[in-house]
Amino acid sequence: MLQDILGEQLMLNRQMFTNFQELIYITCGIALADNKRTMLSVRLLKRLRALNFDSYEEYFEHIQTESNFADELQSLLNVVTTNKTDFYREKHHFQLLAETIIPELRSNHLISSTDNLRVWSAGCSSGEEPYTLAMVLSDAMGAKTGSFEILATDISTKVLQEAMSAVYCEECVAPIPEEQKKKYLLRGTGNQKGFYKIAPEIRKHVKFGHLNFVAENYRIPEKMHVVFCRNVLIYFDTHSRDEIVRKLCNQLVPHGYLFIGHSETLDPQEYQLERLLPTVYRRKC
Ligand SMILES: C[S@@+](CC[C@H](N)C(=O)[O-])C[C@H]1O[C@@H](n2cnc3c(N)ncnc32)[C@H](O)[C@@H]1O
Repeated sequence: MLQDILGEQLMLNRQMFTNFQELIYITCGIALADNKRTMLSVRLLKRLRALNFDSYEEYFEHIQTESNFADELQSLLNVVTTNKTDFYREKHHFQLLAETIIPELRSNHLISSTDNLRVWSAGCSSGEEPYTLAMVLSDAMGAKTGSFEILATDISTKVLQEAMSAVYCEECVAPIPEEQKKKYLLRGTGNQKGFYKIAPEIRKHVKFGHLNFVAENYRIPEKMHVVFCRNVLIYFDTHSRDEIVRKLCNQLVPHGYLFIGHSETLDPQEYQLERLLPTVYRRKC
């Protein structure tokens, strides 16, 4: 068991676990259950080692010092967030977007040759989701039917940096269909052999930004036609989830679409939404 390997002296004691649990909850809304003590200990050890601290107490004191707070809090969030993602994750969502939703948005005149489609990948992790969206939309939208813009945001600056570098290993790009690989990936050579870079024609559609869902005053100027917020809500408690979903819905145009992850659910009536599929919703008005 990980707990045995870690050894008692490397485990957060209960009080320290509670301290970090509260700090994480207040700053980013992530609610760590009591059974996550080992997981949090392992993740925080990275910071202890990087800063040469011998104990979690020393680290907790360090992070609370005013001059260290902002920078170290970000480093803490970078190790605490779970960033698992994949290209073409929950593939049926992309198919639905290309085959059903784009034609619907067009026939309702929500997008046109002059009005770009706007999509938000909210909680984009290392970029696989927004780049998948860009590949799918490039194929689905011909030049005469207008273009599209993707806003991709995350709270972790570590994954945002990876996303902006747009470089992925062979195993990471495996879920991308061969045809799209040929069109949209640049194969690395020399010391980049075995790595692939997303082509500029795909990258140009995606803008990355740092955004904390529970920050009181985050503002995105433009309303979105489609929001992907998948495999994010599971990390929050009912209170924060409600606040986050309300803000996501406010960011949608009337009749815009919200996608959530396969293990997530929400009550559509609470948010003026209609459920199209268990994980796909449309704003009523
Ligand atoms: C498991 S990943 C999901 C990635 C992608 N949406 C997918 O489904 O493959 C969840 C992401 O949510 C981000 N996240 C967690 N809390 C957040 C918050 N308060 N504000 C913004 N992003 C957050 C994490 O950093 C992480 O990259």
